[in-house]
Amino acid sequence: MLNKLALKIGLLFFVFIVSIELFLFSTLYFTFVNERVDEVMSNLLARGNTHSEVLEDSFNDTTLSHVAMMESSSDFIVIITDEAGKELTHSDQIELEMREVLGHTDIKEVPEQGEILEDNWQDERFIATDSPITIGGEHQGHVLMFAETSQIKEMVERMRNQFILGGLISIVLTVITIFLLSRLITLPLIRIKKATEQLGKGQGGVALDIERNDELGELANAITRLSTDLDRLKQERNDFLASISHELRTPLTYMKGYADIASRPGLSEQERQEYLAIIREETGHLTVLIKQLFELAQLDHNQFSIQRELVPIDALCHTVASLVRPAFDEKNISLTVECEPDLTAWIDPARFQQVLLNILDNARKHSEPNTSVTLKGSQDEKSIFISVTDQGEGIPEKDVPFVFDRLYRVDKSRSRMSGGSGLGLAIAKELVESHGGRISIDSERDAGTTVTIQLERGENDAENPIG
Ligand SMILES: Nc1ncnc2c1ncn2[C@@H]1O[C@H](COP(=O)(O)OP(=O)(O)OP(=O)(O)O)[C@@H](O)[C@H]1O
Ligand SMILES: [Mg+2]
Repeated sequence: MLNKLALKIGLLFFVFIVSIELFLFSTLYFTFVNERVDEVMSNLLARGNTHSEVLEDSFNDTTLSHVAMMESSSDFIVIITDEAGKELTHSDQIELEMREVLGHTDIKEVPEQGEILEDNWQDERFIATDSPITIGGEHQGHVLMFAETSQIKEMVERMRNQFILGGLISIVLTVITIFLLSRLITLPLIRIKKATEQLGKGQGGVALDIERNDELGELANAITRLSTDLDRLKQERNDFLASISHELRTPLTYMKGYADIASRPGLSEQERQEYLAIIREETGHLTVLIKQLFELAQLDHNQFSIQRELVPIDALCHTVASLVRPAFDEKNISLTVECEPDLTAWIDPARFQQVLLNILDNARKHSEPNTSVTLKGSQDEKSIFISVTDQGEGIPEKDVPFVFDRLYRVDKSRSRMSGGSGLGLAIAKELVESHGGRISIDSERDAGTTVTIQLERGENDAENPIG
């Protein structure tokens, strides 16, 4: 397919350039030939005029023979006639074709400055001019000059050969140039095509080292980047699947184990109830996990409908706080809401409640009793900020960049006991970003953590609601 492209480009260029060359060469050729022929003609006429001028000065036998003698040693032939066209003298033998010219000439009509009698150099043997000898206003005779056309023909032929040679050379050069040019364009294209085929087959690791600063180089770079991205996505997907299967297998193993124990004979009713409670709890965790995974899948496919409305942030924060307060009280953690009044945002309240519940749940899980958690709402000219600050254990620096990743937990075993699956922040991030906002986390080990949601005011303002 791409070889066809090279052929197409090549042919197109070839036809185009060769047409231009043909046009230029033929114009040049015809102009040259015409100019040369004109030059020969006017030279012949000028020569005849010179003779006639000499004869006008002294029209006698001596001068006549002088002129004839002069031309007998040249390439030209002169015939001098009297006023009626009767031949007085001539330099060379008079050929039949010359007589024809003489016979067809209306000798009286010839102007004083002479005229060309025959200029058909292509078909005739001679070209001819007539220069009248005018003495006292009367034609006393005629100087007829002849030149063989074979000389002109030779000259034209030489010129034509040169032009043909030049044309051939330029065509060969054109072909070579076009070939190189089309290779220059199509070779990288062929490599790019192979690379995309490789990508299409799912083989990664495509690296196109096309060092060019033009569009083709950019395309190659884009494809290399695409390949790297694909590799990364594939790796992420594999990791994710591995994590999910691990997440699902662990509770299932517990459940099977406890079910086995619970079905053993000779167990007290109390023991059996304990094991069944564990199984129920694990089932609950699994249900939550699967629900969260489903939500994420929907978010990935943009199937998550977001119903925005003008939401007073202060009220939202208080609602969320009242929902989680019992759990905070139970752990003896104080929960404060500090929110600027009149702060509103154009958001989906249910989704934002879900986000805040997630973040507050994290703050509670990772805080010790007798600490405090603050839910804060504020704004500046550009943005609205909603943040949750705790005084809990914090996150190790090396883990901070990954806490928004799916299924990422800092302390796998401990979180497992507290029921976390590592999806809460991933979902929160997707939801905030689908509102056009950003979420970030700031944490210091043993000092506390702050999660901040930032919403651009332009997009979330009451005055300028979009979406
Ligand atoms: N406020 C916090 N203080 C300390 N660590 C935190 C805090 N918030 C999150 N983390 C860490 O980040 C990890 C990811 O949080 P995320 O909410 O995504 O998952 P989870 O809470 O473990 O599970 P889920 O929210 O799905 O029930 C947590 O496991 C925890 O290690
Ligand atoms: Mg969480």
